[in-house]
Amino acid sequence: MKLSVIGCGYLGAVHAAAMASIGHDVVGIDVDQHKIDTLSQGKAPFFEPGLQEILTAGIESGKLRFTTDMAEAQGSKVHFVGVGTPQQKDGYAADLTYVNAAVEGLLPYLSEGDLVAGKSTVPVGTAADLAKKVTTTGATLVWNPEFLREGWAVQDTIDPDRLVAGIPAGAEGERAADILREIYYPSIDKGTPFIVTDYATAELVKVSANAFLATKISFINAMAEIAEATGADVTQLADAIGHDDRIGRKFLGAGIGFGGGCLPKDIRAFSARAEELGRGESVAFLREMDEINMRRRERAVQLVVEGLGGQVYEKKITVLGAAFKPHSDDIRDSPALDVAVRLHGLGAKVTVTDPAAIENAQRVHPQLGYVLDRDEALTGADAVIVVTEWDEYRRQLSPEHAASLTAGTVIVDGRNCLDAAAWRAAGWTYYGMGRP
Ligand code: UDX
Repeated sequence: MKLSVIGCGYLGAVHAAAMASIGHDVVGIDVDQHKIDTLSQGKAPFFEPGLQEILTAGIESGKLRFTTDMAEAQGSKVHFVGVGTPQQKDGYAADLTYVNAAVEGLLPYLSEGDLVAGKSTVPVGTAADLAKKVTTTGATLVWNPEFLREGWAVQDTIDPDRLVAGIPAGAEGERAADILREIYYPSIDKGTPFIVTDYATAELVKVSANAFLATKISFINAMAEIAEATGADVTQLADAIGHDDRIGRKFLGAGIGFGGGCLPKDIRAFSARAEELGRGESVAFLREMDEINMRRRERAVQLVVEGLGGQVYEKKITVLGAAFKPHSDDIRDSPALDVAVRLHGLGAKVTVTDPAAIENAQRVHPQLGYVLDRDEALTGADAVIVVTEWDEYRRQLSPEHAASLTAGTVIVDGRNCLDAAAWRAAGWTYYGMGRP
């Protein structure tokens, strides 16, 4: 099927390449000329496992192309909108400028019977507003949220847990759902649930899923705070409660908390939207989740200070990690960098290393020191803190080897990802998050 994808960021670029990889004829459109040039050369503009391969294959097969010209959307049967909805500069609400501009820009090129399929994460009610504009052209709006995780984006797009389609009532909606089924047939054939809802439900599925995940992480981080007050070990606690199927072990990793381009801004935008709807109290707990999450970053800083005897001024501290999570070069709202910046603010000499995110980090926080090579970064450190659980630090760094490089032996495990006993046995003073 002929498809257009408006917006070629994390969501759109992956969606465009993934749709081409399952046989569709795709044009990706973005206003950023540099991004379009990079993608047109078959190069991934960001680090995402598997993306490079499907981009190159798509471009070589002629099934995938990129342009800045919205007019090239004309003739596509379905137009996916996957532009960003960042947090507003002066508040918590989502900034819908890009979504509105994308849909407005598309209107002149829509034909009778086309679908516009919204994928961006938007405040509930947005689809109904956009539908008013889209229907003036004879096209139909559907809401088809995206649940991809960075680092797994290609797999999550080609083979998602579930597909959700928010459609208008009546025959027009049924026809729209059938077109989406046709697009996603390889995954539906394999048994992926295809859930058809109204617009509001589809929009809410996305934000409530993210709110639930954020709540799960903050819950275990709250338990980490209680563990710290009692001498309990939150990692054992998480294992034990996670054996209950109803709770589940996933997303119970206590540490410096969640970050990235989605969870923090999405729970804030959800709170702001709920307030507008007069239902602020229904999600008041999300503010608390946000606060618990942010407190854990400060706790990690405190542990470094404690480990170094009360002050870090002029101390050499190696920060292992910059990305908001492993397998990503994304530093948007990265707890790892926030911890590094806070330590720098206390006068420490901070050296940050990361296998993928150094360039991005350097651009945004040029005041910190950066070294690509892990061992060079560790050399001479008074204290070390792990803030992104890359395998390079979690599995491939032996405590004995680390100790042979550093000046001091204080290790703060901001992600509870190290073998505490092994580090202690090698002579380190080990601090975990919510662990004795
Ligand atoms: C998230 C959702 O998982 C995805 O479904 C949605 O489409 C977009 O938002 P992503 O932002 O890629 O995806 O990252 P995710 O893997 O969810 O991790 C988010 C943050 O939570 C990271 O900073 C991670 O380190 C942190 N996290 C995750 C924890 O602190 N503990 C955990 O147990 C799990």
